[in-house]
Amino acid sequence: MAKPTRCCGTEWTKKALIITAIVATLVAVGVTVGLAVGLTRRNNDSPTGRFASSPYTALSSQKGTPDLVATGLPGIRSLLFDDSTGVLLAVVKGTQQIVSIAVKPPSAADNSKVVLIDASQAKLKLNHGIAMDDAYLYASSATTVYRWKYDRKSPTIDVATREIFINNIDGADPNSDTAAGHITRTIVLDRNWMYVSVGSAGNVDRDSSRSKVRRFAYKSATTLPIDYQKGEVWADGVRNAVSMAFDARGAVWIAVNGADDLARPDLAPDMVQDSPVEPIYKLNGPANAFYGYPYCFVAGNTTGTFATDTNAGKVYAWPDFMNDGTHTDAWCQNPANVILPDAMVPAHAAPLAAQFHTETGDMYLALHGSWNRNIPSGYSLVRLPFTPAGTPTTNRVTDTIMWLTAGPCAYGGSCFRPAGLAIVGDVAYVSSDNTGDIVRVKL
Ligand SMILES: *[C@@H]1O[C@H](CO)[C@@H](O)[C@H](O)[C@H]1NC(C)=O
Repeated sequence: MAKPTRCCGTEWTKKALIITAIVATLVAVGVTVGLAVGLTRRNNDSPTGRFASSPYTALSSQKGTPDLVATGLPGIRSLLFDDSTGVLLAVVKGTQQIVSIAVKPPSAADNSKVVLIDASQAKLKLNHGIAMDDAYLYASSATTVYRWKYDRKSPTIDVATREIFINNIDGADPNSDTAAGHITRTIVLDRNWMYVSVGSAGNVDRDSSRSKVRRFAYKSATTLPIDYQKGEVWADGVRNAVSMAFDARGAVWIAVNGADDLARPDLAPDMVQDSPVEPIYKLNGPANAFYGYPYCFVAGNTTGTFATDTNAGKVYAWPDFMNDGTHTDAWCQNPANVILPDAMVPAHAAPLAAQFHTETGDMYLALHGSWNRNIPSGYSLVRLPFTPAGTPTTNRVTDTIMWLTAGPCAYGGSCFRPAGLAIVGDVAYVSSDNTGDIVRVKL
């Protein structure tokens, strides 16, 4: 049976049971400390005052308290900004809707919300991915990419135009949504290619047959649906590349959610705390380029801080494979076998969305946050600065733009957990599936 996995929605039920006792203690301490902090906070940090109600939904940023833009969007995931009409589009998993919210000019309230697609009747199980081109809006379930005709000038969508665009994503029956393991399928597209990422079935699979980014020359598709399994493998061995984004030059970057439960006592006594890091890669190809999962992982800091430890970023063999006769540390460290990361986010931070700033060229990442670490990581919006030449200025993501005011989140609490990201000029909109909110933060 597949091991339960950390990120992205419904898969952690079993693990959650196991850690209930720990969580109960943490919550008790957290609530006590948090209440003390919360009571001293102003009640009007946001338009509704809602953020003062739980210490773990109160947010701070480098440029002041973020604004609450919308609430009541349970399980909200990806955000997408449509610059032709100034609306944010959002996948709301809990209500099975795609909604649009007018944000330009900035509006403080959520009363401008329009339901574009209500997929609850058709049981489409939309859960994360969303993308658009000049004629269509695309959204994904675990098994399928759907599309609808989308006229950006119109505030509504004719749901009768729905088509199954890509099917057979994990080989399951497209009508049954029986996908196991990671269930999100992030979609990004440019004029030529649509990229769709699929994560692993379990924590550590036996091979990389699921863990890939495939791409499709989608504009020239003549018969629909397109079979997912026939897409070109543009990245192989990426455990769960939930974050995908184009840089200013049109290259695709991913941030990968790494595995849990790592034990390599020969490298560090409590290796799982800081390893594996969540690696960031520029996908340069060629087709079938291999990034290491499940045989290899990217180590975090083993002796010093994340910001300075020289071991962080090195690739090692995952313990299940290191004695299989092939996948040794030396094999993993041979660049002919495995591509090295361009940068890294601390272990277990769970990057669920990425976007590049069109003017500065910097990469921003929404970090959902962790459970497999004594001190939780993530629960924040972070920035990876880039040079004018389009490469990261550092390989460590340490610049936190927005964070939980009360500090690390007590797992299982009603914490703000970033899941979607849309950068519009000098602000970022960040969604939280756990609390059903969107906030606006100055960059
Ligand atoms: C790794 O870095 C983090 C953050 O800098 C720190 O909390 C942790 O203790 C470090 N781990 C080790 C083994 O020094």
